[in-house]
Amino acid sequence: MNEILFDYGIDFTDSNEVSSHYDAEARIILYPGDTNDFLATIPDETVALIMTSPPYNLGKDYESRTSIEYYLEAQSQVIKQLYRILRSDGSICWQVGNFVDKGEVYPLDVFYYGIFKKFGFHLRNRIIWRFGHGLHASKRFSGRYETILWFTKSNRYTFNLDPVRVPSKYPGKRHFKGPNRGKPSGNPLGKNPSDIWEIVAQDWEKELWDIPNVKANHPEKTDHPCQYPIELVERCLLALTRENDQVFDPYAGVGTSLVAAILNNRRAIGSEKEAAYVAIAHQRIRDSLNGVLRHRSIGTPVHQPTGNERVSQIPDEWKDDPEARLFEERINYP
Ligand SMILES: C[S@@+](CC[C@H](N)C(=O)[O-])C[C@H]1O[C@@H](n2cnc3c(N)ncnc32)[C@H](O)[C@@H]1O
Repeated sequence: MNEILFDYGIDFTDSNEVSSHYDAEARIILYPGDTNDFLATIPDETVALIMTSPPYNLGKDYESRTSIEYYLEAQSQVIKQLYRILRSDGSICWQVGNFVDKGEVYPLDVFYYGIFKKFGFHLRNRIIWRFGHGLHASKRFSGRYETILWFTKSNRYTFNLDPVRVPSKYPGKRHFKGPNRGKPSGNPLGKNPSDIWEIVAQDWEKELWDIPNVKANHPEKTDHPCQYPIELVERCLLALTRENDQVFDPYAGVGTSLVAAILNNRRAIGSEKEAAYVAIAHQRIRDSLNGVLRHRSIGTPVHQPTGNERVSQIPDEWKDDPEARLFEERINYP
């Protein structure tokens, strides 16, 4: 387990908890290479949760764009292996957005659903991960959500609701009839978070509202172009695994799933083919082991503008524009 990853010119002897190959005893494994090669080394029915955001075939720095048919066929081979290594009571959370070709949108979860069903997985939730910002489209409505498909391998699976409950909107509600009449009707730990999750991808809102022109500045942001937030993984792993279970991310990027596992006392496994991301992942793993990783704590509310910020005000230049005034009247006096 004492690994020195000479490939990246980094000496990891001070974080000797990290193995670079599959080791049944290791608490943390980060394989620096192709997930297909790594998967072949993992025994059957080993991991409790597979949580990942696969490449979307969008031609990002780390992928070469292919036809959607070829892409899905290659992913199907990976998913077949994932089915093999997943425990019979295990879960898989597959986080995807859209593939876009010549302006046409292909919702990837729709395509993936058929692949997972082919291997015998059971869908438990299609979770909408909603975010309040992103690119502004001009020829279609701007995209503001992605999805997480949560499948289980069988009908016997772990689901712990209590660690992921969220505050109720009306905790004071009471039963108005029946034997519990007059007693509180909710749960003191809060309510089910539902299948629509608002977890910020890039928490630039607070900075943007309060100090206009400050650059996006999420505490977790690294050089990776498609990193997901730690909190997104935390919600899945707290609900779907127990302490010391193994959590695996086949497309680990900068190690978000692994650090979420470490922060919550789960065993962490990942594979990532890009050396630069592996190096960042190692740093984040070290930081989480040392308790110094910068991250949003689970349950941190999304910042809501008060309406008084400069960026919430109608610009002076628009005040004389009759069309803009009409719009303002419409939103203020619906
Ligand atoms: C969407 S990103 C995942 C980012 C990750 N969720 C995070 O928060 O950092 C997909 C990652 O898969 C990696 N990848 C793509 N194909 C791979 C393969 N065959 N084996 C291992 N990693 C691969 C890419 O380099 C990229 O970092």
